[in-house]
Amino acid sequence: MKITVVGAGAVGATCADNIARKELAEELVLLDIKEGFAEGKAIDMMQTTALLGFNTKITGVTNDYSKTANSAVAVITSGLPRKPGMTREELIGINAGIVKGVAENILKFSPEAIIIVISNPMDTMTYLALKSLGLPKNRIIGMGGTLDSARFKYYLSLALNCNPNDLQGFVIGGHGDTTMIPLTRYATYQSLPVSDLLDKETLAKVAADTMIGGATLTGLIGTSAWYAPGAAGAALVESIVRDEKKLFTCCVALDGEYGQNDICLGVPVTIGKNGWEKIIDYQLTEEEQSTFNKSADAVRSMNAVLKEMKLI
Ligand code: 2OP
Repeated sequence: MKITVVGAGAVGATCADNIARKELAEELVLLDIKEGFAEGKAIDMMQTTALLGFNTKITGVTNDYSKTANSAVAVITSGLPRKPGMTREELIGINAGIVKGVAENILKFSPEAIIIVISNPMDTMTYLALKSLGLPKNRIIGMGGTLDSARFKYYLSLALNCNPNDLQGFVIGGHGDTTMIPLTRYATYQSLPVSDLLDKETLAKVAADTMIGGATLTGLIGTSAWYAPGAAGAALVESIVRDEKKLFTCCVALDGEYGQNDICLGVPVTIGKNGWEKIIDYQLTEEEQSTFNKSADAVRSMNAVLKEMKLI
C-alpha cells in the first residue's frame, strides 16, 4: 500500500510522520514544490526509524507526481497557511488554483486514490475537488470537522477536568471561525450528557473557544497550527486503510442530507476503505438546523468565488 501526502510544510510533514509511525502503508511519498524540501523532511523522518521502530519507507520528491503513482490515499495540504488576523476564507484566491492542480496531478498517476483535503478554506477546497475531478463523491473527504471535534473535546476536557479520551462530541458545519457548530447537546462524558455536568455559560464558552481554536493558535504561534491538523489527517487515513468504519465529522458532498444540496459541509460520516461510506443523520433542533443552514450559506458564497475564478 502506498500513500501520498502533498505539501511538506508543517501540516503535511506532521501528517506524514503520524502515518509512518502508525505504519499505515509500506510506502509513503511526501511531495512539495520547493526544491529539496520534501526530500529533506523525508530523510529526517527516515532517520527516526531506528529510534521509533516503524517500517514505512518515506520518500520525498520535488513536484514529481510519477513517484506518487498508484497511491491508495492522497492527502492534500498544499497552499498557504493563514497568518495571525487572517481568516481561512482569505486564502481562497491563492489556494484554489494550487489545490486544483495538485488534485489533477494526483489523479493522473493514481486514478483510484481517495482524496483527503486539508488545505484552506477547507470546505471550498473540498467542493472544488468534488466539482473539478469528476470522482465518485465518496472518494473526496475534507478533514475539518475531525480537527474541530478534537479541539471541542480538548476544551470540554479542560472544563470538566477529565481525560479527552472519555469524551464524545461532534462539531458539524463549516470549518470556519463563524461557520462551525459544536453540538454541545449531543456531547457526552462516558455516556453522561455534558449538559448535566456543566452550566450553560461554561458550555457556551467551550463552544466559543472551539470555534476560534485555530485562530487562537495562529495568534500564539504566528502561523497555522499543525500537530492536531496533521494528526486528524492521519486518523482519517488510518480509518480508510484499515477499513475501520469509524465515525468522524468530515466535509462531504451533501445530496439532501441535513437539508442541503450541492455543497460540501461537515457532518458525521463513517470512514472506511471506500472513503466516506455513510452519513449519520443526527436529528437537529430547529435552532441547530437554522445555524447549519447559515453555515451552508456562508460556505456557498465562498464556493461562488470558484466560479468567478473559472475553476469549476
Ligand atoms: C486549523 O484550524 C489548519 O485550518 C487548520 O488549524
